Amino acid sequence: NEKLASFPENFFWGASTSAYQVEGANLEDGKGPSCQDVKEVPEGTSDLTVCADHYHHYKEDIALMAEMGFKSYRFSIAWTRILPEGTGEINQKGIDFYNDLINECLKYGIEPIVTMFHFDMPAALDKRGSWSNPDSVEWFVNFASILFQNFGDRVKYWLTINEQNMLTLVGPVIGTLTIPEGTTNVLKEIYQQNHHMLVAQAKAMVLCHEMLPEAKIGPAPNISLVYPATCKPEDVIAAQNFNAIRNWLYLDMAVYGIYNAIVWNWLKKYDATPTFAPGDEDAMKNAHPDFIGFNYYNTATVAADDGSIPFDPIGGDQQNSNGIAGMYKSVRNEYLGKTEFGWEIDPVGFRATIREMYSRYHLPMLVTENGLGAYDTLTEDGKIHDQYRIKYLQDHIHQIQEAINDGAEMLGYNPWSAIDLISTHEGMKKRYGFIYVDRDEFDLGTLKRYLKDSGYWYKKVIASNGADL
Ligand code: BG6
Repeated sequence: NEKLASFPENFFWGASTSAYQVEGANLEDGKGPSCQDVKEVPEGTSDLTVCADHYHHYKEDIALMAEMGFKSYRFSIAWTRILPEGTGEINQKGIDFYNDLINECLKYGIEPIVTMFHFDMPAALDKRGSWSNPDSVEWFVNFASILFQNFGDRVKYWLTINEQNMLTLVGPVIGTLTIPEGTTNVLKEIYQQNHHMLVAQAKAMVLCHEMLPEAKIGPAPNISLVYPATCKPEDVIAAQNFNAIRNWLYLDMAVYGIYNAIVWNWLKKYDATPTFAPGDEDAMKNAHPDFIGFNYYNTATVAADDGSIPFDPIGGDQQNSNGIAGMYKSVRNEYLGKTEFGWEIDPVGFRATIREMYSRYHLPMLVTENGLGAYDTLTEDGKIHDQYRIKYLQDHIHQIQEAINDGAEMLGYNPWSAIDLISTHEGMKKRYGFIYVDRDEFDLGTLKRYLKDSGYWYKKVIASNGADL
């Protein structure tokens, strides 16, 4: 380790959450329902009424983050707490809550890193067509301007849309992408919605720079390198295809304002290229992120499609599909182990992903998620011995350091999650936090907080700026 470059001074050591997964109080104090509140709750999992009850426990939670030495806390703002209907009247209690949360962070010198949209479209806007409605661009920009106006004096780091690529690839699985009834070309519909999100993001970035010249803003896709299954040239082409569809489409657009050519031509084949509204092209070209925020969990591995992949416009993510016809076929990577929930574990792939991103975009990078979902046990004496999580985080942090040593510019590490919360579709039992929350899937327990062994370990990592892993 000693030979490697050190982590930069002022590196943002922290962790992440999202509003709908952590806050609870989902219809309290004037908050309107989001698409997450009205969707069917996946079988065997809790609903979102309480979650970790962060809404009522945020002071205690931030005190624990401060005890671990957090330099940053990445959280999202629930659109429907601010605008219960998505547009129109502002809910002052929502503004008050996030003011309090931000001020509480600042009290301890914790930098608030705010995600503007994390899978929680207002239900009222869903009824108006959600991202399929071209007006969605203006809805989002209006929401953004309210955030900048109310919180921009204290929030210096902004993230636009969390994992837009996952919304596009597996949105219906996360419960957030709606295909209007009667849609004939589903692929075109999905990429039209994706286009609206890209334009909305571009306009929000420009607005942020206009309203808050000191602030920094970036996208937050889930980026992970796609490997070819073998050195067979056809497998390399398949890996390039999926890299383009999964990763580069989003960053080429966010950074350079251009559509990735491989993706564009693939869409063209199915008459599925998005329609541009007047001004879209300029809006995209004018937007420039200050950094790239990204989530990393694991790499993907693909081979050439052998003709066995059926045409399915939804589901290009390796966790949830077999591949995309004519483009690639997902395969297991035999070199990698898996989590209890079946996700591949690839710390070296983290380094590879960072290196590749830096070569392509030359922007500083902020890790906005990374982490291990596992079953945790609270012992009778109030401990959580999550050595498996320590090992996972240790290996990944080590690879960030390798990447820094390779020349990559890294701003911070904010793994998932600061505190136990509800997973996207596997409930409360799949825990990620440094802070344990005493509740089960359906039994709300005491909601008492405990630092896990990983929390004590992370404290030491932060105190030594990553030298003591
Ligand atoms: C990311 C999301 O996809 O991964 C989070 O941004 C999510 O919202 C996290 O919780 C872990 O995924 P999961 O499905 O285990 O909750």
